[in-house]
Amino acid sequence: RTILLINGPNLNLLGTREPHIYGGTTLADVVSEAESQASSLGVFLQSFQSNHEGAIVDRIQEARGNVDAIVINPGAFTHTSVAIRDALLGVDIPFVELHVSNVHAREPFRHHSYFQDKAVAVICGLGTYGYTAAIGFAAKHMKIKGK
Ligand code: DQA
Repeated sequence: RTILLINGPNLNLLGTREPHIYGGTTLADVVSEAESQASSLGVFLQSFQSNHEGAIVDRIQEARGNVDAIVINPGAFTHTSVAIRDALLGVDIPFVELHVSNVHAREPFRHHSYFQDKAVAVICGLGTYGYTAAIGFAAKHMKIKGK
């Protein structure tokens, strides 16, 4: 059983970028915490971060047939990317959409998501605890597809 964690653009700067919005926890901390959480839940975690839309599309395509659930923070691509949406639908892997900040309390252009109507769940505003919540949910409650 495998969960793929995807972080989009600028999330490599987590912990140092606008800490009043995104907090002080780094992406490395998030990923190592997620790995130990996954192993304690008996699931395998793969992690991927990219600032490039096409690289994220490629990684989602690679997951076809070997990943059971995706947890994705698409970053700013949340509000722009039909291509990433199509990739997720194309591989037919259930996914949780996650945002560190409460996007609904921010600028109006962050209120729309190209993913929210297809996600199993949407988490926002929990800070980096959102990753813990999403991975716990994916490990315990998302059904294994195709295996
Ligand atoms: C974000 C919210 C997006 O609007 C923003 O572009 C990000 C991060 C979040 O985690 O809160 O890069 O996805």
